Parts: sequence; structure tokens; C-alpha cells
Amino acid sequence: MEHVFFCTGHELKIPNIVKSEGLYLYDEQGKGYMDLESGVWCTSIGHNNVEINRIIKNQIDSLMHAGFCYSNEILENSAKSILEIAGLNNGKSVFLCSGSEAIEVSRQMAKHLTEKNVSLTLHDSYLGAYSSITDRSRNWYLLNWEQCKTCPDKETCDLSCEVLQKIPKEVSEFIFEPGSSSGFVRFPPKSLINNIVKIVRDNGGKIVANEVTTGIGRTGKWFGYQHYDINPDFIAVGKGVGNGYPVSIALINEPTTKQLERKSFHYSQSHQNDPLGASIVYAVIQYIEENSLILKAGKNGLLLHQHLESLVDNKIVLEVRGRGLMYAVDIKNEKITNSIYNDLIEKGYIVGNRSASFRIDPPLTITKTEIDGFIEELRESLSLF
Ligand SMILES: Cc1ncc(COP(=O)(O)O)c(C=O)c1O
Repeated sequence: MEHVFFCTGHELKIPNIVKSEGLYLYDEQGKGYMDLESGVWCTSIGHNNVEINRIIKNQIDSLMHAGFCYSNEILENSAKSILEIAGLNNGKSVFLCSGSEAIEVSRQMAKHLTEKNVSLTLHDSYLGAYSSITDRSRNWYLLNWEQCKTCPDKETCDLSCEVLQKIPKEVSEFIFEPGSSSGFVRFPPKSLINNIVKIVRDNGGKIVANEVTTGIGRTGKWFGYQHYDINPDFIAVGKGVGNGYPVSIALINEPTTKQLERKSFHYSQSHQNDPLGASIVYAVIQYIEENSLILKAGKNGLLLHQHLESLVDNKIVLEVRGRGLMYAVDIKNEKITNSIYNDLIEKGYIVGNRSASFRIDPPLTITKTEIDGFIEELRESLSLF
């Protein structure tokens, strides 16, 4: 087959996927691939989920799109439901289309309210695809926390630390991803984050939790920030909340909502607050609740963690990091990583492959048997080296 679509810098891995179900993708020959990456970490409750498909079909038959100035029951119920699991009672939410957009809108609101212009994030954080986020040459402060990873005071540091003292006063928002995915699943220490939050807030800035990857149960709690002692002003949610459908949300806490009522903020794009996306968000949350998937993901995550740890031999497998169902496995070098990756694809297993690491982020619906089966195949692939 000749491909005329553009992979935008990514290598085409499997040429013709024709169907999907649960944890699996299938190619035209009927070969199944266990998708341990959940697409791009999106299919939180499995591919082609029958329950979600039913909701999508019903919603299409009634109201798919209305315009951002018209509300409807599904939008209101969905907003309530996501605010409730995020612990932002009396807050508000804007339904959008991608994780990048949820971050962008949160940033714009923070800048509008604070009238400050420096965005603060950790040096290894990924925040989205837009140039306003990828071009960090101006009006960004990247806090390099490399030295904090091995600092003896990392759990007890205070404001006297030089890393913290350099934070500028003009920070409009600190965007914090509680499980640095581009930093390959690293969890910044609590006291570092608490101190940054304190400094930024004391100077009048806002706190944005970037939950695009870590949200919706991925880390064993509804949101990754719930592993920290912080209360964000904004929460950017994406990926898993749509189970593969492009919907995202910027959540806003009550005090910030009140500020926005006093100081009116404008943002508009054609698919903002679309009922179809909202119906999917509502259905995904219900599905996770009804099937106790946060609890199950926590338990199965522990099992996966133990299995992955058992592969660490300090020769080929150097380190495993993660919590819940979000893991990075560091391999000796990129060449070996690629060979193992290709071997796994051959056997019908998809993992995230980046530099000399694998990333493993399966749907919350993965079972113990599926985890056991994957680990056996991975062990065999590793034994070839
Ligand atoms: C941590 C994080 N933030 C933001 C984004 C951007 O989300 P999207 O690709 O849906 O725009 C991503 C995407 O991978 C991400 O991993």
C-alpha cells in the first residue's frame, strides 16, 4: 500500500491496522497486537469499548454540535462529573479538543488574571504541540530540577535552596506535570513542588496541573496531583478522558472562576463545549467508577511494577520507574532498545519506544493474565541479549 498521509517526523510502525478491541489492535492479516501504550496513552478503558460506542452513537443521533454559547444537559452533567472527581466543587470547566489546547487555555487565563508574563515549568516537561509552548526562548522559566533528583534534602528542602531562590517574581503560572512523562516518568519530590507552589502563589501566580497524561486514573488515583499536597487553580485534562476521541478539558477552581467572572476572559474555537465530546467524558468517568477501575489499576499496577522490577539486571535493564499504570523502563542503550522493541512488535506487543527507554501505559482495564503474558514475552526478548 502506498501511503500518502504524513507521519510528521514519526516512523510508520504497523502499516495497516483494520480493527481494535480492548487491549488489542489487529492488522489486515488478523494478527493481534497487545497495545501497552493505549494508542498515544489515550484509550484509558480499551479500544472499541462497546459501552462508550453506544453512548457516542446515541449522542450523534441527538445532538453532536451546537456552538459554544448553547448549553445542554449532557454538557452540564459532564462538567459536574469531571469537577467532582477533580475535587473542584463550584468550579467550572471548558470542553476543548486536545491536551495542548487545555494547557494553552489555562495559560491564557492565568496570564489574563495575573497580568504577569512568565510561564514556569520543570525543564523536562512536555506541555503540548503548539509553538506558544514548544518555543520556550522567551517568557519561559524552565526550572532545572536535575540536581534535586539526587539531593540529600530532596524531601525536606526549604525556601533557602538556590534552585528555588532563582524563581522570578513575574510568574503568571507554574505548569506542573505530576509524573514528568517527557522526563520519562519521574516524580518530582513533594517538598520541591510545595515550595515552588508557595513561591508562585505568594507572588500572585497561578498553579496549573498538567494532567493530560497522568489524569483519569493513570497513576492509581483520579489525578496525579493527588499524590502531592497541592490544590491547583487549573487542571488540564486530555487523552484518557476521551478514550481515543479528541476531547480535553480546562478545569478551573472556584476562586479563579469568581475572578474570571469579574474580569471577563474571551476564547473561542468552533468545537468548544461540543456535546459529543462532553457525552464521552461523562461516559468514560461512569465506566471507570462502575467498574472500580482506579482501584483495579492500582492493584494491577503494583503487579506490573513488581514484574518489571524483577527484570532489572543492571546489564540490559537498568531501571524501572512508575506508579499506577504508568511506567518507564530504562534499557542499556538505544540500539538494544530498538531491537527489543522490534522483536516485541514481531510477537504482537506494542510498547512506547523512546531513546533508550520503553514506556508502558496500558488501559486501566488490563488484567493480571494479560500482564503475566506480556512479562513472559518481554523476559524472552531480553534473554536474546
Ligand atoms: C504531558 C503532556 N502534556 C500535554 C500533551 C499534549 O496533549 P495533546 O497531544 O493531546 O495535544 C501531551 C501529549 O503527549 C503530554 O504527554
